[in-house]
Amino acid sequence: MKTYRVAILGCRGRGTAGGRAYRAHPRTEVVGLCDLIPERLETLGDLLGVSERFSDFNQMIEETQPDIVTVPTGTEFHYPLCMGVLDYEGVHIDVEKPICVDLSQADQLLEKAGKKGAKIAVHHQGRSGTCLKAVVKAFQDGKIGQLRHIEASGKGYYGGYGLMNIGTHTINAMLALTGHCRRVSASLLTNGQPVTPKDVVPSPSGMGIIAGEHITATLEFDRNVTATITQHRFPTVDSTAHGFVAYGTEGRLLWHNRAAWWLPVPHFLPGSEGTEWKALEQDIPDHFDSGNGASLDDYLYADDYVFALDEDCAHPCSGEEGRHVLEVLMAIFESGAYQKPVVLPQKERDHPLLRWRKEAGLGDPIEMPRPVGEWLAAEGKRLGWEPEAAEHKDLMD
Ligand SMILES: NC(=O)c1ccc[n+]([C@@H]2O[C@H](COP(=O)([O-])OP(=O)(O)OC[C@H]3O[C@@H](n4cnc5c(N)ncnc54)[C@H](O)[C@@H]3O)[C@@H](O)[C@H]2O)c1
Repeated sequence: MKTYRVAILGCRGRGTAGGRAYRAHPRTEVVGLCDLIPERLETLGDLLGVSERFSDFNQMIEETQPDIVTVPTGTEFHYPLCMGVLDYEGVHIDVEKPICVDLSQADQLLEKAGKKGAKIAVHHQGRSGTCLKAVVKAFQDGKIGQLRHIEASGKGYYGGYGLMNIGTHTINAMLALTGHCRRVSASLLTNGQPVTPKDVVPSPSGMGIIAGEHITATLEFDRNVTATITQHRFPTVDSTAHGFVAYGTEGRLLWHNRAAWWLPVPHFLPGSEGTEWKALEQDIPDHFDSGNGASLDDYLYADDYVFALDEDCAHPCSGEEGRHVLEVLMAIFESGAYQKPVVLPQKERDHPLLRWRKEAGLGDPIEMPRPVGEWLAAEGKRLGWEPEAAEHKDLMD
């Protein structure tokens, strides 16, 4: 049984999470690390016990000959770095989510990966996790009958940022129940009004171009299935709000990245008999050691990668699936901006918000700070918020 060699391009938060998982998995080993900042390289190298440390990813790939290169960097760097990694033969890529900042980038990346025979996986680890697998199994076992509707929420980030950051996980997770999305209608509100081209701004944390403080979107799938996704800015970010409830003809399922629950009735009034939510059993593999520092979902995502390479099949979070998630994200922005439904896959692959601004005769969006807290303060100033409304806990997840 082959042990897959993994090299990590980016040694901060997500590089560390991925590094722990690939170190913990019995079929993968971390063989090289790369970062532009020496202290981060040293910290992760010492943590994982990896001595091959580089500031140039080309040198890392040439000297360590990895099977997988992970790209846990800011989203704006995914495209150029992944394209550079794909210059090498026989290298697969684990790129953080979302795959890229627009569809044109994602198309070019997948085209090059296809030519090189490289498997891209997008790090939506919740899709590999035990909670979603428990929900999918309950659904497949018929516990809620026919799926009718899914209702999903973010954690309370500024809407457009929440969509790119958290919405990407939520949409990827719901695709496991719904299949691909066919049509999207959305409302983007800023300061209580529909967004204007002037509300199109660069995202915090380099996640491309966004708009909308409060986003509400309706998604249509095959077989009459619909979903609503809200990404509303809360006064305080709240991770417990992130997840979805799936409504079936005979019951409901609740997915959160740390919980999976089943309600055995489709409709109920609180307090009625027989209407308690039941926790679903989660299938944690024996080979996972909770003491090794790896998160279970990251570990299982690595496990899915090993399976995909062994069997020459797609990872459940394949590049194609990650691109479809991005199609939904871009369709939400497009539908909210132009105030009309968008059919997927969309023919126009440029960023719809930049197209919209251009058509309105505006140039590039204004510059905004990258850190979330400073970004919110700048947005609050632009929109005339009270100072305390711009305070926000800077969570990255
Ligand atoms: N899957 C999840 O649960 C999850 C959670 C949070 C963030 N994310 C995603 O992870 C990404 C951000 O990860 P992060 O917070 O660890 O990023 P970060 O920007 O904090 O760190 C990236 C690291 O990569 C290094 N780097 C950047 N360009 C480089 C280059 N050319 N060569 C070598 N090193 C380079 C930087 O110096 C930095 O240390 C985003 O795409 C975000 O959406 C995913």
